[in-house]
Amino acid sequence: MIPFIDLNAQQKLIRDKIDNRIKQVLNHGQYILGPEVKELEEKLSSFTGSKYVLCCSSGTDALLLSLLGLKIKPGEGVIVPAFTFASSAEVMPLLGAIPIFIDVKRDTFNIDPNKLDDTLKTAKDIGVEVKGIMPVGLFGQPAEMDLINDFAKNNDLWVLDDAAQSFGGKYKEKIVGNLSEVAATSFFPAKPLGCYGDGGAVFTSDREIYEIANSSHIHGMGRKRYEYDRIGMNARMSTIQAAILLEKLKIFPEELEKRQIVADNYNKNLNSLNLGIELPRIIKNLKSSWAQYTVVLPKNINRNKLQEYLKSKNIPTAVYYPIPLNEHKPYNKYPVSKCGLDVTYNLSKKVLSLPMHPYLKEDEIIYICENINNFFKNN
Ligand SMILES: Cc1ncc(COP(=O)(O)O)c(C=O)c1O
Repeated sequence: MIPFIDLNAQQKLIRDKIDNRIKQVLNHGQYILGPEVKELEEKLSSFTGSKYVLCCSSGTDALLLSLLGLKIKPGEGVIVPAFTFASSAEVMPLLGAIPIFIDVKRDTFNIDPNKLDDTLKTAKDIGVEVKGIMPVGLFGQPAEMDLINDFAKNNDLWVLDDAAQSFGGKYKEKIVGNLSEVAATSFFPAKPLGCYGDGGAVFTSDREIYEIANSSHIHGMGRKRYEYDRIGMNARMSTIQAAILLEKLKIFPEELEKRQIVADNYNKNLNSLNLGIELPRIIKNLKSSWAQYTVVLPKNINRNKLQEYLKSKNIPTAVYYPIPLNEHKPYNKYPVSKCGLDVTYNLSKKVLSLPMHPYLKEDEIIYICENINNFFKNN
């Protein structure tokens, strides 16, 4: 089977270095808040240009800590795409806030900035005060942040970038993590920069957001030990995960280039086949971290059958995401923009993600594309 994501290929390259880093943690024994966590925060700060970085226990917790830092209150609204992973919206109800679902654009899979105005009006009509927008850099490409930030500024809203998938991407000259007031990423193993367990980080250049998030991630700690300023969580990153990430961060820029080459190769091969598949579009001056390579299948193609066929040829595929978030039981009571979610519904039926990782070889890509072609010819 061609691996959907090949973590072993990467591990083979740097296994000795990772072993060594883990050994150092075992030697000093500071498994929680050890020096590697600070070192990683500093490295991530220079990598992104974000003044403050807070490493934490997962991408979901990073979103939650960001919302705490932004002082969201129960009953307040946050605009979030319906075409995303559950975490993006999940963190709002956890704090009593209200996700307001907005549609995405078909070619980028990200928030449609043209629909922000009507979505804000939808919330107003039902008496929900919107405080912020959460764009999601789905599959690796950051959202159209200039348009989103401008809209936010004009309407007195903050922007929290869910960069769980887009970490490593670029928006014009800026690096993801530094595109809005605050950003959150995930270091889940399958993410572009992943550790060997759960992990995440909050990025901001706003001191107050950082301080609240920092305090909140250790039970709301105050200045002294066992003195508490607020209700918090236990959301620290384990030192061993930080040590692993320090080694992985060193090869991350090179891996991002390799991912781009893989995406270019897919584009070239799929384009030449002329199958009517819509390929991912990256906006000019933006860079995707290529967390996923996701295509939109033509109407007449049965996605399940294609997946079965590819599986029989040892090619794994995945569907991110088969059901719009607002359709799930815990979310179906939350408001949907009056613009509707037509694109989201359509994409959820037609998207397909193909194997994607930096070490995917050109002959494997050709094999995958040939088999897609074979299926299309016979269906
Ligand atoms: C868009 C998005 N947001 C948030 C998360 C949450 O990250 P984690 O799994 O580290 O909690 C993920 C992870 O899958 C994600 O894809």
